[in-house]
Amino acid sequence: MINTTPRRILVTSALPYANGPIHLGHILEAVQTDIWVRFQKLKGEDCVYVCADDTHGTAIMLRAESEGITAEALIARVNEEHQRDYAGFNIGFDHFHSTHSVENKVLSQEIYKVLRANGHIATRTITQLFDPEKNLFLADRFIKGTCPKCKAPDQYGDNCEVCNATYNPTELLNSRSTLSGAAPIEKESEHFFFTLPVFTEFLKQWTRSGTLQEQVANKLNEWLEGGLQEWDISRDAPYFGFEIPDAPGKYFYVWLDAPIGYMASFQVLCEKTGRSFDEYWRPGHDTELYHFIGKDIVNFHTLFWPAMLSSAGYRTPTGVNVHGFMTINGQKMSKSRGTFINASDYLAHLDPEYLRYYLAAKLSSAVDDLDLNLEDFVARVNSDVVGKVVNIASRCAGFINKGFDGMLSSQCSEPALVAEFQAAKDEIAAHYEARDYSKALRAIMALADKANQYIADKAPWTLAKTDKSSAEVQAICSTGLNLFRLVISYLKPVLPTMAKNVEQFLAIEPLQWNSVDTLLLAHRINAFSPLLTRVDPDKVAAMMTQVESSRSPVGASPARDALPNTPLSTEPIVAQIEYPDFAKVDLRIARIVNATHVEGSDKLLQLTLDLGLDATGKPDIRNVFSGIKSAYDPATLVGRLTVMVANLAPRKMKFGMSEGMVLAAGPGGKDIWLLEPDSGAQPGMRVV
Ligand code: 2FM
Ligand code: ZN
Repeated sequence: MINTTPRRILVTSALPYANGPIHLGHILEAVQTDIWVRFQKLKGEDCVYVCADDTHGTAIMLRAESEGITAEALIARVNEEHQRDYAGFNIGFDHFHSTHSVENKVLSQEIYKVLRANGHIATRTITQLFDPEKNLFLADRFIKGTCPKCKAPDQYGDNCEVCNATYNPTELLNSRSTLSGAAPIEKESEHFFFTLPVFTEFLKQWTRSGTLQEQVANKLNEWLEGGLQEWDISRDAPYFGFEIPDAPGKYFYVWLDAPIGYMASFQVLCEKTGRSFDEYWRPGHDTELYHFIGKDIVNFHTLFWPAMLSSAGYRTPTGVNVHGFMTINGQKMSKSRGTFINASDYLAHLDPEYLRYYLAAKLSSAVDDLDLNLEDFVARVNSDVVGKVVNIASRCAGFINKGFDGMLSSQCSEPALVAEFQAAKDEIAAHYEARDYSKALRAIMALADKANQYIADKAPWTLAKTDKSSAEVQAICSTGLNLFRLVISYLKPVLPTMAKNVEQFLAIEPLQWNSVDTLLLAHRINAFSPLLTRVDPDKVAAMMTQVESSRSPVGASPARDALPNTPLSTEPIVAQIEYPDFAKVDLRIARIVNATHVEGSDKLLQLTLDLGLDATGKPDIRNVFSGIKSAYDPATLVGRLTVMVANLAPRKMKFGMSEGMVLAAGPGGKDIWLLEPDSGAQPGMRVV
């Protein structure tokens, strides 16, 4: 192929909120984006990838306050943590910035002023609920009360999780501020609005320009047909963000300056690399702009953002690529279910390449959710990456190293097969380009199968038995290693670390996409060392134990915007079970006969529980790990009675086997109470 001028592409992932850690939902998106960017770079395109922390808003202000530090100190610390976690998964940002930066402030204020000059900012006075103790206006999630429809208590300000009704926060009965507990009052204030409805026709055209996946375009059509509303872009002080020009005490709503953070981050990259900012952000250039986002933030990226950009005289995105949510073993990621896996939890136990491979093997260009099924994860990675790919090299390398001093033959013995591997390049490239990674990996694994079949058919080990230096053994194994090199070239966007190890093993320059056009002949390779070890299911279990031990108590609903990219807003607070399920639970009185700290755990105590005699008349003594360390000094527990679930299947935890569960209640921290039955209770008694 004739080398054309490289494409100039700017790519972004959604900016993670600075009020929470990076979790596997973020990693799904970052891996999806990173694979696409790495693929473009390998092809020789001029592709850059930027991101930043999304740092503004009430939640961050309140969290900093509760930690007794400034918001600036909080976001600086979180920025480091976020970058560390992304780097742990080999996410190759060209620049990672912060929305609380001078570049973002200048751009946000400039864009706002152009919108205002164009008549696209309206002001009007609105009435909102106000916390008279905290002295701030309350966003819906900071108000709870009784649902006006079904009268369910403890519902958020915007919708009822019991009957699904949506309402105005002022309609909630007995409402109170979740920040202070005070009854909110109604208060007026002037707000600034972006006149979105003016852009209806523009957005209808933009939707049909091939920028969006069909599913997303359909959703957008629904919104456009239903009629757009003006968008409230201001918040009153106190607020952590940028002040609105000429409006003291008014701040940009976090979602106004968040996407501008893409521009700000890129601007810093331009300063570092000499790229022209305007060629990427003003209309009329041949550059491309892609945003990768989750399905929960489609409205911000396909309504407000393109409309704002066009009013402000900037270009609109070439593509907005939307992915679904991540689930764990079929369950939503949720702190109370113990399925909320932080990036750092994963990295403490498992190799990032495993997850990169698994996600790629399941990702398509559709908006579907992606399930991380942990059993399937172990099986898939072990069978594909270790069993199929690494196996090709491990079967051939020893013969070349031992019999031929590491020297590959000067010809491959199976030209047709090699040519077939090389010819797969364009099909695989098309799948990567279209973000159909699952199809790309299926095609690559089909090649790996063929390579293994070839080696099995030729059985070099049999030939080597009679003559370990025979030219035939050398040719077969050299062919095998060439097939391996081609497979690794195709996998490099997904498995960058493994590819690097292979480059070292084969003693070659970094592989590029076009490297598959050539072969490795009459070349000396290095000794083989294992490129990737098998996923150890015990490590997966240890990770889940850690995740479960830090689960939040059932019923404690975290502030919802603390959990970006997770569908928590529809999560019922407590799932309902039928009576027969409840009846299966064997609740018994137990005496705590010993309680000790668990070395290495900041949550658990190890309890020895006496349940009286079991059905055969033997003492029923159980070992249970319980996450109540924050509330109890173990010495004070010995001798006390408690209630336990006696028929919970034993679970292997990092620190040993846990044979039941102690019942406790409370919001967590110091306030976890063990249930203590009245005197007269005896160990082993059934609780009825
Ligand atoms: O949903 C979120 O996690 C937001 N912090 C994403 C912002 S993306 C961009 F627009 F800044
Ligand atoms: Zn209700």
